[in-house]
Amino acid sequence: MSALDIQSLSRSFGGVSALSNVSFTVEPGERRLIIGPNGAGKTTLFNLLSGIFAPSAGRLSLFDQDVTALAMHERARLGLARTFQITQLFPRLSVLDNVLLALQTGHRGAWSPLRSMRSQHALYERAQQLLAQWQLDPIAGQQARAISYGEQRQVDLMLAMANTPRVLLLDEPMAGLSAAEVVRVSGMIRSLPRSTTILLIEHDMDVAFDLADQITVLHQGRKIAEGDGPAIRADAQVNEIYLGVD
Ligand SMILES: Nc1ncnc2c1ncn2[C@@H]1O[C@H](COP(=O)(O)OP(=O)(O)O)[C@@H](O)[C@H]1O
Ligand SMILES: [Mg+2]
Repeated sequence: MSALDIQSLSRSFGGVSALSNVSFTVEPGERRLIIGPNGAGKTTLFNLLSGIFAPSAGRLSLFDQDVTALAMHERARLGLARTFQITQLFPRLSVLDNVLLALQTGHRGAWSPLRSMRSQHALYERAQQLLAQWQLDPIAGQQARAISYGEQRQVDLMLAMANTPRVLLLDEPMAGLSAAEVVRVSGMIRSLPRSTTILLIEHDMDVAFDLADQITVLHQGRKIAEGDGPAIRADAQVNEIYLGVD
């Protein structure tokens, strides 16, 4: 069983082909890096995987279940989570309240007033525990808009992990971070449990290659290479179109 089975996925916008006939398989527990120049189709791939856009053609399975026709929230319920290039926090709410909201959204089961009261307490405990675990408790009481950009990205990542997803899509989680924050966030990603399969779009090659088991290279919407770090570094076409110009 694969975590993700992507089969001939294509998407065009108007006349522009953003993704063409891309196929690959990601094994459970794998950390898959997606690289490619700007406009290569990386974010489009994530939008198709998470269900923001429907593919023009192709099929997608999550743990052997065909999810091609499923809506975003249905894929989320099956354990697919993602972060965005732009932070999704509610700016005027505290970090703690953002965490509580995210946990509540992931909370399953029918609503009942008694269960609700008990679960409020459990949610609060869980939120505190998460913040402590990620060493973000010092900023728990601050408004999301008041914390630094790097801290926002860390909270984003923590929230994406809060409901222990089976598959996590990370779209440039380290873009715009200081060198110290890159070290911290890459450490956070490295420390995630292998029970979560990770797909990562990242520009910082040194950091990204270090995190990845396998790498898929996109260029102009097509998959042009796939393999482990040494294989990709040695790939002539990749060097020519991508690594060489970086
Ligand atoms: N919603 C959209 N509407 C129109 N064109 C889009 C849309 N999303 C992506 N594209 C186009 O698809 C191509 C791939 O974009 P994208 O997936 O964002 O690339 P990357 O993330 O690799 O930089 C680009 O030419 C982009 O302009
Ligand atoms: Mg992108």
